[in-house]
Amino acid sequence: MINQELTTEKQNAKSNILTSESIPHTPRYVANWPGLIEAYRPYLPVTETTPVITLQEGNTPLIPVPSIAAEIGRGVQVYVKYDGLNPTGSFKDRGMTMAISKAKEEGAEAVICASTGNTSAAAAAYALRAGMKAFVLIPDGYVALGKLAQALVYGAEVLAIKGNFDQALDIVRALAKNYPVTLVNSVNPYRLEGQKTAAFEVVDKLGNAPDWLCIPVGNAGNITAYWMGFCQYHQIGKCDRLPRMMGFQAAGSAPLVVGHPVAHPDTLATAIRIGNPANWEKAISVEQASQGSFNAVTDEEILHAYRLLGREGVFCEPASAASVAGLLKLKEQVKDNATIVCVLTGNGLKDPDSAMANTDNHFKSGIEPNLEVVAHTMGF
Ligand code: F0G
Repeated sequence: MINQELTTEKQNAKSNILTSESIPHTPRYVANWPGLIEAYRPYLPVTETTPVITLQEGNTPLIPVPSIAAEIGRGVQVYVKYDGLNPTGSFKDRGMTMAISKAKEEGAEAVICASTGNTSAAAAAYALRAGMKAFVLIPDGYVALGKLAQALVYGAEVLAIKGNFDQALDIVRALAKNYPVTLVNSVNPYRLEGQKTAAFEVVDKLGNAPDWLCIPVGNAGNITAYWMGFCQYHQIGKCDRLPRMMGFQAAGSAPLVVGHPVAHPDTLATAIRIGNPANWEKAISVEQASQGSFNAVTDEEILHAYRLLGREGVFCEPASAASVAGLLKLKEQVKDNATIVCVLTGNGLKDPDSAMANTDNHFKSGIEPNLEVVAHTMGF
């Protein structure tokens, strides 16, 4: 019976993905990606009556980063899962297409979240598409400008509190209990359901699970979601192994590493400036089940990885670079010929201030608009 269900599930999964075979003259991989709910419908808690709210999120590239692999050597292959290429520029879109579709299905008229920036941008965009109001609480002064701009452009009601993310999350949890607003932080189980599809995509591309999955950790929703995805695919035989889940926190905000909440989290990677992760217990279970570990990386290590990625043509936000920083920190522990995926959770364009402050490349200004002067400045 179970086998039969799985076979049908596989067939459904196949028929739902539009491939180059089903669309004549469409180059491979350019075929009409329908968004992750349609692509992975059999694996998600949706029904025919669920309104699918999508911006065609998902299907993000898995990019080899040879210069980072070369720092490790020994035949190790390193890829980055560049989830900054989602419609609002972060992995949050994966969770939000599910959370907002289900909220709409349940008749919600407004959603709320606390956010270090990316969740607020995604919640605002998807709520708008669904015709719902979005309220977002952010820590005043600690959200990258691009993310704040997004939330405003997508029409959210943005409330900046004189406090940190953890305080904002406590407030929105209470608000969602007492008022007619649906909570769309990662404590909403549909968020994790959507986000697990990133693990499906990794396996679909690699043909198996990687040896290590390196991932930045804040509230610990995404590491939990990836693990759910790998386990689900493993159960139905899409991969024959499971990765070690390697979570990385910024040293000034590393509650899962120090083993207790951090009252005043501090890091330039503002996206993961979180002292009391909402998914704490789940994160510990993932660590144990996958034989993974949580480790801290300093802001300097994060910035080093951020610059290395820039030199590979990959622009991520500082928090995302924590995954690569962590890998480099633990490189001695990587076994020969391992395949490693580092998750790049958000796009570098969201945080131009960090980019300008932390590049060692500078532009030349005040140049006369004259051919010879420009050529001379170029070194010709
Ligand atoms: N990377 C980025 C770019 C993020 O925005 C976040 C979380 C994380 C990593 C950590 O993911 O919380 O699932 O462990 N950002 C949330 C927000 C908190 O509000 O945008 P996590």
